[in-house]
Amino acid sequence: MKKITIAIDGYSSCGKSTMAKQLAKELGYVFVDSGAMYRAITLYCLQQGVDWHSEQALNMALTAIHLSFHWNDALQQSDIYLNDTDVSEAIRTMEVATKVSEIAALPAVRRFAVAQQQQMGQNKGIVMDGRDIGTVVFPDAELKIFVTASIEVRAQRRYDELKAKAPHISLEEVKKNLQARDYMDSTRSESPLRQADDVRLLDNSNMSRKEQLLLLLSWARKEMGLV
Ligand code: DC
Repeated sequence: MKKITIAIDGYSSCGKSTMAKQLAKELGYVFVDSGAMYRAITLYCLQQGVDWHSEQALNMALTAIHLSFHWNDALQQSDIYLNDTDVSEAIRTMEVATKVSEIAALPAVRRFAVAQQQQMGQNKGIVMDGRDIGTVVFPDAELKIFVTASIEVRAQRRYDELKAKAPHISLEEVKKNLQARDYMDSTRSESPLRQADDVRLLDNSNMSRKEQLLLLLSWARKEMGLV
């Protein structure tokens, strides 16, 4: 069967990773959450006190970072490891979220992450989500999707996700963080978030996960030559 590459880009907290993961599972494809890679790099910089404004310090940090994904059967998810440590939980804090857009905008960081992402996708059969997957990482992807949802819906989703771990967080704080990240991700000079020309738009503000998955599967099957 023809294997394809599926790129899913869009704003923060649109549910990109959830949909990418479900789609990959249905198709028997590899799933990669590229945002988790930028978050893990950010976590390393925060933990080690790296001065990322210094090119030399940043380059040294990048040579000490090894990122890998390992399948977790119990949780049915792919965990991200920073060197030998599972950081899947640690990268989801507000502390990381407030710094990640700044670090993800650095050219050396992008070169580092994009090279690894392209390697992961060299055999196709992959669903990757992020901000520049259809434009920079896999410009030849057969299926490119750009996801959006209203800021209210996105803030509520992220708030619901965070509040169990961080009860002091307010909905307004989460909304401000999302807006700030959207702004930084879309206006940076290196690989800004933008829609590729040959992209399919998906506004999931009022869609159930099931409706969304069925739509994605129909698009994927079309590109795979199955319908
Ligand atoms: O998808 P996410 O919210 O976990 O991504 C975290 C940050 O990483 C986001 O603010 C922008 C950045 N990012 C990026 O610049 N390029 C990607 N391909 C994925 C994420």
